[in-house]
Amino acid sequence: MAESMAGLHRTCRCAELKKDNVGQEVTVMGWVQKQRNKGGIIFVDMRDRSGLLQVIFEESDCGAESFAKAEKLRSEFVIAVTGKVCLREGGINPNLKTGEIEIRACSIRVLSESDTPPFPIEEESKTKEELRLKYRYLDLRRPDLQKNLILRSQVSTLTRQFLAEEGFLEIETPILNKSTPEGARDYLVPSRVHPGNFYALPQSPQIFKQLLMCSGYDRYFQIARCFRDEDLRADRQPEFTQIDMELSFVDVDDVIDVNERLLQKVFKETIGVDVPLPIQRMTWQEAMDRFGSDKPDIRFGMELVNVTDVVKDCEFVVFKGAIENGGTVRGINAKGQGSMPRKKIDALVEFAKGYGAKGLAYIAIGQDGTVKSSFAKFMKEQEMNDIIKAMDGENGDLLLFAADKNKVVWDVLGALRLELANQMELLDKNEYKFLWVTEFPLLEWSEEEQRYTAMHHPFTMPMEEDLEYLDSDPGRVRAKAYDIVLNGTEIGGGSVRIHMDDVQEKMFEALGFSKEQAYEQFGFLLNAFKYGVPPHAGLAYGLDRMVMLMAKMDSIRDVIAFPKMKDASCLMSEAPNVVDPKQLNELGIGITETEEKGE
Ligand code: AMO
Ligand code: AMP
Repeated sequence: MAESMAGLHRTCRCAELKKDNVGQEVTVMGWVQKQRNKGGIIFVDMRDRSGLLQVIFEESDCGAESFAKAEKLRSEFVIAVTGKVCLREGGINPNLKTGEIEIRACSIRVLSESDTPPFPIEEESKTKEELRLKYRYLDLRRPDLQKNLILRSQVSTLTRQFLAEEGFLEIETPILNKSTPEGARDYLVPSRVHPGNFYALPQSPQIFKQLLMCSGYDRYFQIARCFRDEDLRADRQPEFTQIDMELSFVDVDDVIDVNERLLQKVFKETIGVDVPLPIQRMTWQEAMDRFGSDKPDIRFGMELVNVTDVVKDCEFVVFKGAIENGGTVRGINAKGQGSMPRKKIDALVEFAKGYGAKGLAYIAIGQDGTVKSSFAKFMKEQEMNDIIKAMDGENGDLLLFAADKNKVVWDVLGALRLELANQMELLDKNEYKFLWVTEFPLLEWSEEEQRYTAMHHPFTMPMEEDLEYLDSDPGRVRAKAYDIVLNGTEIGGGSVRIHMDDVQEKMFEALGFSKEQAYEQFGFLLNAFKYGVPPHAGLAYGLDRMVMLMAKMDSIRDVIAFPKMKDASCLMSEAPNVVDPKQLNELGIGITETEEKGE
């Protein structure tokens, strides 16, 4: 039977009590973690978001009625206990915050009872994630997840505090917007009032924050929900949160400066990690050449080595062919992996093929210097020696090579480098290595669309020194864009925006948009720019990703209260779902069975 809490006041949270409180009478409220009945004495572990507290019931302290209630307690009952704080009689528990004390109860109320939960609420749950997501409200009671969400809240609070102090205004932007085709796929919302018309949920507040700069707000921020209908991965959700900002009258260094100080404050004041400033910067080109990635994990080396020049005259058709087709040959040196069994090397070759490689050539150098290689038979001895030397190959090393177009070689070796680092246990989650990646290409060629697309978005400013190539050689233009990378994850990105109309026009031309098309899509922004636009720039963090790394989690699901599954569904609420035909009727929407359905 549930009781009311009338007349009772919680005096503190369970785990806020410590030795100093001994002798005080307190009232705590929370969930029963565990009840152990030892005959004349009942031990109850109570839990709330602060942690665990041991409560002792003896009839001589609490009377027969309360003792009888304590006897019936089961896990997850919600109780209120009034009692006295005492030193622990049964010895200190060093694993608990409240391990030196216990409460001797004088009275108890059972505020609500609980069915047997579908899985135990405990730290480091072994229960399958599907079941935990179905009962997310129970899973969220676990200390691990509570710790993550508390950390997330601290990050948001500190961010707000810091940005407010730096003169940023927090301004909300609309959720119901017009669809713009650049970027990921939109989530659409049908309009009832305008049948056949749709709103799009924002992929980011990009256009609105630029408009706010036009309106003179100078420094804006928002902790903004964004929606992208893209394939989900461990670090992607269909709805996620950005710490979004935009600044007027600034250039790259100004944005970087304020953000470095933000990161330093947030990491220090939440998880005690020092972020030495300035954060290292690397151009996109250097990142690709050295790490095969635009978001390199710089916690370890194993850098890519370009051996194209070394092998350019060899007779090995794989290398020769790739070079003749305008590609390169590059390798990585997995130090100390020279005795890797053939089976494992074959698995690496398959892994590489998953990233578009046609194969993976290797040289395994034994501890005694003997060389096993998949391509030695095509090479002269001197050529093999040269290539090993170029790779800094020593006894016991495994050298892996990819030959192809640059993009494929980078993708393959970049991914292989991370895979090997995982296998070799080189990645330390306690280490936080930040990196700015700068000077991204402005455009990338889309084979599918047979045109250039914006690498970031169409409002990104080209580097001034590359402006002259915007007509003649658009592929070579670098952008005033920057990403902030932490341990190989892109936690944020941004750019200086175009505020000059002639540059914007050229950009649209390079993207293959006519003036009409550009106006159709972004007309309100382009019009706003006609009435006095300040130079401006901005950046957005993926808050979920940042907190995931801070909490040392492997998935952003672990730092989101109610996340979606891989197929973008919610196991708990069963969203998305069918709706009442009446609702569809009102919207003028009919459902057609498409052929793809069920594929
Ligand atoms: P961008 O698209 O790079 O930039 O997004 C900024 C950051 O948001 C995070 N992020 C995601 N996190 C979780 N799930 C997703 N599906 C997801 N997609 C992106 C990433 C990324 O770095 N308007 C620009 C920013 C700007 O130019 O100011 C933008 O949205 O951590
Ligand atoms: P093959 O003569 O086709 O057996 O190839 C010899 C070796 O070269 C094998 O180890 C292949 O995996 C490897 N190889 C094939 N294509 C490539 C490539 N594009 N880059 C690197 N190695 C390759």
